[in-house]
Formats: sequence, structure tokens, C-alpha cells
Amino acid sequence: MLEVLSHPLITHKLTIMRNKDTGTKDFRENLDEIAELMAYEVCRDLPTRPVDIETPMGKTTGYEISKEVVIVPILRAGIGLLDGIRRLVPTAKVGFIGLYRDEESLQPVEYFAKFPKNLEDAIVMVVDPMLATGGSAVDAISMVKKRGAKNIKLVCLVGAPEGVKAIQKNHPDVDVYLAALDDHLNETGYIVPGLGDAGDRIFGTK
Ligand code: PRP
Ligand code: URA
Repeated sequence: MLEVLSHPLITHKLTIMRNKDTGTKDFRENLDEIAELMAYEVCRDLPTRPVDIETPMGKTTGYEISKEVVIVPILRAGIGLLDGIRRLVPTAKVGFIGLYRDEESLQPVEYFAKFPKNLEDAIVMVVDPMLATGGSAVDAISMVKKRGAKNIKLVCLVGAPEGVKAIQKNHPDVDVYLAALDDHLNETGYIVPGLGDAGDRIFGTK
């Protein structure tokens, strides 16, 4: 399943992020706000269970989320989505995957992994602003599956058709959420029109 969350608020904020003249502070703040807006939609199908509670007026049945949520940002740029999602799901646990894309081969290189226990029972959200060739996300999803995760959502800001195809081919069971599906990848593997290098723009490293 691919869902492109093209809400006017998301599109407006993404347009600010895409602008090459937007600085680190505004880039980061808009990413954080989009993450929160996306989380609202991504969480729409979270399972709930009934709970008996007592309001000041009497007894009733409420509903609480019945599965643990684990957010897994792909380092570095995925960190930019973490706080916004956690504001809506404050009890979520967090795992980390360190991957960078080799600039020549475009292949993902793993350098870190740390996960909470019981991924098999959780809803695992793998998050990264950019889905370009899809290599990083395909590997990250394989890593969480290797640790037992069964219910996985991939949440990215901007995707290329190539990246979406890679996920659908390698992990057809994973739901993909994007704020925008862009046109294509250029010869160096950057998304066009995209927003440039997300990690560098979040952390001011270029
Ligand atoms: C970027 C981005 C994704 C990856 C996408 O990370 O944040 O993780 O590239 O490209 P792909 O779909 O072709 O794998 P990068 O390797 O630049 O590392 P960074 O987050 O540390 O900047
Ligand atoms: N990684 C990025 O940060 N941007 C792209 O356009 C592609 C990969």
C-alpha cells in the first residue's frame, strides 16, 4: 500500500523545505511539524481495545491503543522526524539504524543498530525523510524483520518512483506513507525536484 498524504498544510510546509534558500532552522522546524501531521494519518489504523473507566458522571467504556509503537529513525536524517511523531505517540519506544549511502555505489552501509525488545508484537515505523533508490529503506526494513518485526510502516517525506518500486518488490507487506511522490532520480541518485541532501540540511553540515 502506498499513501501520499497531500494535505494543504503538509504541502505548504514541504514547499518551504524544498526552497534552496530555506536555512537549517526553518528546514528542521517544518520537517518536525510535517512529521506530526503525517503521524496523525499514519496512526489512523492503530488497533484499540475497550477499557472500562469511570468519568466524573459514571461508568463507561473507552478505547486505548492496544499495541506498542516502535519508531525506528534511519540515522542521520530520520532523527528529524522523531520528535514530531513522538508528540502524538509519547509512549512509543525508539530503535535506531545507522546507515549511510556510499556516494559512488549508492549502496547503503550499516554502522549502528539498537532496538527495544519485542519488535514482533509492535507496530514498527521506520522513518527517513528521503526514499531515493530505496536501498537504505529496503535494508532497514530487513534489519527490523530479522529482529522479528511483522507489522511495519515506512514513513518518508519525499519519495522517488524508483524507491517506491524497490519497497514494493522487496517488502510488499510494508505500508509506505509519503508527503510527496516526486518525478525521478538524477544520475547521482538525488530525488528531483526533491529538497537536496536532507541530512546536511537538517544538521547544517554542508
Ligand atoms: C539519505 C536519506 C536516506 C538515503 C536515501 O541518507 O536520509 O537514508 O539517503 O537514499 P536511498 O533511498 O538511495 O538509499 P544519507 O546516506 O545521505 O545519510 P545521512 O542521513 O547520514 O545524511
Ligand atoms: N538522500 C537525500 O538526502 N536526498 C536525496 O535526494 C536522495 C538521497
